[in-house]
Amino acid sequence: MVALLIVAGHETTVSLIGNATLALLRHPEQRAEISRRPELLPRAIEELVRFDGPVERALNRWAATDVELRGQTILRGSSVIVVLGAADRDAERFADPDTLDVLAEREAKHVGFGRGTHYCLGAPLARLEAEVALGTLLRRLPGLRLAAPAETLAWRAVPLFRSLAALPVAWS
Ligand code: HEM
Repeated sequence: MVALLIVAGHETTVSLIGNATLALLRHPEQRAEISRRPELLPRAIEELVRFDGPVERALNRWAATDVELRGQTILRGSSVIVVLGAADRDAERFADPDTLDVLAEREAKHVGFGRGTHYCLGAPLARLEAEVALGTLLRRLPGLRLAAPAETLAWRAVPLFRSLAALPVAWS
């Protein structure tokens, strides 16, 4: 139970806060708009989860029956890995998927918290933690900026997660 809470409940939220902070630092106009109108934050968090969510892929699944998918047959018993990060950048689902737009409400729902029976148990807590952390950062440190070029940032080589190794920042 402790291991589950640490991995499912801690790593994920820490990584979301890092990824989302990076995305906002790279999009100063959108960040400024959220700072001006903090009531936009809950909606912004949904877009930040879609744009660079911390859980790159779902846990393994196994096909219960033969499944036809886009001309491919997935045989019963085969293992299937669903890449949530790719689904959330699917151009057939989201207009202009590689663009962050925290101000517009997207019609399609992201799958950053999974979907169906195993939908994330902690999603409401994760949303609340992100809202408190990002809201506080924006409010308390309006001069926050990246202290290294974004292209030089390292991502941790861990399975499942998309997570920064470090996010060097400075503020004035
Ligand atoms: C930004 C933060 C989080 C993200 C992006 C996230 C994402 C996900 C995803 C994608 C799944 C589904 C995995 C799959 O279908 O294979 C999942 C499941 C789960 N999450 Fe989260 N999670 C987050 C935070 C949390 C927190 C804070 C908790 C608990 C305190 C938590 C507990 C769980 C549990 C227990 C499951 C398994 C549910 C089941 O199998 O029925 N998660 N999460």
